Amino acid sequence: MQLILQKCDPADISWLDEFINIKELRVLPEIDSLSITNKEPVLYYNALGLSLKSTVDENSSPSRVDFKHPRIQHRLATSTRSEGLLKAVGLDKNRSQLSVLDATAGMGVEAYILAASGCRVLMLEKSGIMAALLHDGLKRGMNSGDTRLCQELQNLTLKMVDSNDYLELIKAGQEEAVDVIILDPMFPPRQKSAKVKKTMALMQEFLPPNEDIETLLGKACECAGKRVVLKRPGKMSKQPDPKPDFQVPGRACHFQVFLTG
Ligand SMILES: C[S@@+](CC[C@H](N)C(=O)[O-])C[C@H]1O[C@@H](n2cnc3c(N)ncnc32)[C@H](O)[C@@H]1O
Repeated sequence: MQLILQKCDPADISWLDEFINIKELRVLPEIDSLSITNKEPVLYYNALGLSLKSTVDENSSPSRVDFKHPRIQHRLATSTRSEGLLKAVGLDKNRSQLSVLDATAGMGVEAYILAASGCRVLMLEKSGIMAALLHDGLKRGMNSGDTRLCQELQNLTLKMVDSNDYLELIKAGQEEAVDVIILDPMFPPRQKSAKVKKTMALMQEFLPPNEDIETLLGKACECAGKRVVLKRPGKMSKQPDPKPDFQVPGRACHFQVFLTG
């Protein structure tokens, strides 16, 4: 992976070491960005924060974790009416504060929607790059001066860890139990389907598909106090395997709900 520093000092990115071994990155000043030849996504760091850009889709703009993005804020504003996720986690019936573990945090969109809706959410992310993008987005949000956003983000915590390991710790009583676990695994790119969203296409460029989803689902069902929510692409399936207790339609996706309580 390559990292382009745009008008910033290498000292500004020392925090990245918590997530990525900077020595393993090819760190280039902006002037050298034209020397990027391989097809791996490229990290950029500038005054706007950390972002990731596809080199396959050269026309795409860089993606960063931005909880104030109008698309995310619109999704939040319309969530009580049309957000399948809230129904899937049981927030429509249960107004008491739920503790949620997002075992596949990614860009943190789902975790943020839940946190802004009053849940306490722990985000787990095993990729150092994704965890660094999330940390950067959380930091920027907390420093944005937006009081409402800061309050919402106080409900969000991030840990860089493989969820398989973390769920074992919950099972052993070494980490706190949670009410709900959500899983939004990486699926292999679908050849014939409509074009996937830009950020998903970007993630598919460097993150492996989840081959262990049955194992992760099984562990999650042993650990969640109330339910596990598995997000799947496309329409609700007629004969899902394994069979959930019920399904909830979403936008270009659906949620399979496994009751555990
Ligand atoms: C499809 S993305 C999730 C998108 C997310 N729901 C959002 O709102 O942006 C899947 C993410 O899960 C992460 N992941 C996959 N398996 C994991 C595991 N076992 N532990 C932690 N993170 C995992 C991947 O690195 C990837 O970032």
